[in-house]
Amino acid sequence: MRLVFLGPPGVGKGTQAEILAQREGIPAISTGQILREAAQSEALGPSLRRIMEGGGLVPDEVMVRIIEERLGRPDCRPGFILDGFPRTLGQAAELDRLLERLHLELDAVLLLDVDEERLVQRLVQRRVCSRCGANYHLTSRPPAQPGRCDRCGGELVQREDDREEVVRERFRTYRQKTLPLVEYYASRGLLRTVDGDQPIEAVGAAIEAALARRA
Ligand code: AP5
Ligand code: ZN
Repeated sequence: MRLVFLGPPGVGKGTQAEILAQREGIPAISTGQILREAAQSEALGPSLRRIMEGGGLVPDEVMVRIIEERLGRPDCRPGFILDGFPRTLGQAAELDRLLERLHLELDAVLLLDVDEERLVQRLVQRRVCSRCGANYHLTSRPPAQPGRCDRCGGELVQREDDREEVVRERFRTYRQKTLPLVEYYASRGLLRTVDGDQPIEAVGAAIEAALARRA
């Protein structure tokens, strides 16, 4: 199964991609997570952090190199879920070229849909594990032990780009650069829209139903 998760900041792409990936036994590839790890390095760190903490996008060339390397790894052979890529029409075109070269096709593009104001609230309450990247929400998905990751015991922190003014800028970037992908994938019959404004399990079930409709 080869899928793309599309949708605005905080809509639940990472949460649902992880759940589905575990069920299917395929990797969920979060470009945001890859970039947050790269941002720890001395060489690339400062420029990546400046872009991400400003709510903008990392250049297409950088992203395409990252994805090309990641999709070439053996764990992607049975399938993969892309969370956060592509995010521009340029990236989508490059992904098409890359998949063509590998003789692969996307099965579906899942668009998660939630009202923007609701998402601002979600993001402000999000906490992430500083060690393994697992994500939590102070009210809808709290950890068993306050401030500690259920999975690895790491410390839970707030992402720098989850401050409200950065969140607003991320939405502007989404509307300008990423929204055109909805039409791009709809016109090719790949788009499945799912209501993301339901409890996490219900969104998961709606995603399964959307994928079953395709078969
Ligand atoms: P990235 O990490 O991809 O950020 P994003 O797209 O803004 O997405 P988020 O991770 O904020 O949200 P999500 O949709 O995954 O929601 P989540 O499941 O966490 O990218 C970060 C930055 O990296 C970008 O701004 C950009 O600078 C750069 N970047 C990344 N990819 C790039 C690319 N391809 N090109 C260029 N630049 C790139 O859920 C959010 C919260 O809500 C959590 O707390 C969660 O527990 C909770 N939640 C989830 N589902 C529900 C639900 N159903 N009900 C209630 N709460 C829920
Ligand atoms: Zn953890």
